[in-house]
Amino acid sequence: MAVIVLCSASGSPGVTATALGLALAWPRPVLLVDADPTGGSAIFAGYLRAQSAPSDSLVDLAVAVRDGHLTSAIAAATLRLPGPTGADVSTVSLLPGTRAHGQARGLAGLWEPLAAELAALEATGQDVIVDAGRLGLVGSPEPVLYAADMALLVARSDLVSLAGARSWAETLQTGFERVGGVSALSLLLVGEGRPYSAKEVRKVLQISVTASLPWDPDAAAVFARGATAPRRFASSALVRSLTAASTAVQAGVAANREQLVAVGAGSSGGLP
Ligand SMILES: Nc1ncnc2c1ncn2[C@@H]1O[C@H](COP(=O)(O)OP(=O)(O)O)[C@@H](O)[C@H]1O
Ligand SMILES: [Mg+2]
Repeated sequence: MAVIVLCSASGSPGVTATALGLALAWPRPVLLVDADPTGGSAIFAGYLRAQSAPSDSLVDLAVAVRDGHLTSAIAAATLRLPGPTGADVSTVSLLPGTRAHGQARGLAGLWEPLAAELAALEATGQDVIVDAGRLGLVGSPEPVLYAADMALLVARSDLVSLAGARSWAETLQTGFERVGGVSALSLLLVGEGRPYSAKEVRKVLQISVTASLPWDPDAAAVFARGATAPRRFASSALVRSLTAASTAVQAGVAANREQLVAVGAGSSGGLP
């Protein structure tokens, strides 16, 4: 159905934990792509508690682009993630990222062909969630971001995080205007109400807030660090909000697509 990219402007607001939590709450099979140029395979070290190591990764895909077999290389590099309570298997596949930040430099030629491949996965009934990490780093997957059906700038609701988000929101808005998809950009707030509400943030930053997650360190640690799930994890505030966020993201993608169709029909003079 869609490619959704999560990124941050500054600090460490919770992009990885949110991308993973959203993928695990997603109602359909989903491919989670670790495209964070910081490297370090955060999902292996965190959620999978370093109990396994990726064999293939984005680095192998960059080689596959040169050799002309990207599609099969993506399938070979992905692995199925376990569910958050341990033994169970989820419907989330992971495409592992780079192990070290220096590797990201070599991925410049990968992002455009990868963006096209990810969009084509829609035909197989798979959605895609991309962890793009922090914006502005060398090796940043910007072509994937600008090709997304929805780009979520993840921020906390305090002044420091919002100041960073404001400066990047302007840059991203300009970038999206250039590719004709400005409505694809919105905010995802982590820890809404600490201290600002989504309404206040929207008013000041002039950018829509697609979803808000509560401050829930114990549940977030399951996604970020592979911590043992706390009691009543499945009904925790964070997990319930992630389910609501997945619904809001899907609705946002559908609305954006309708708008694009309407604009297309209008520009071709197709409407009576
Ligand atoms: N909703 C949340 N409530 C509380 N803590 C959170 C939440 N989301 C993430 N965190 C915490 O924030 C820290 C950074 O999360 P992480 O996902 O690694 O951020 P990033 O990918 O942006 O660097 C982790 O300690 C994680 O547990
Ligand atoms: Mg991260």
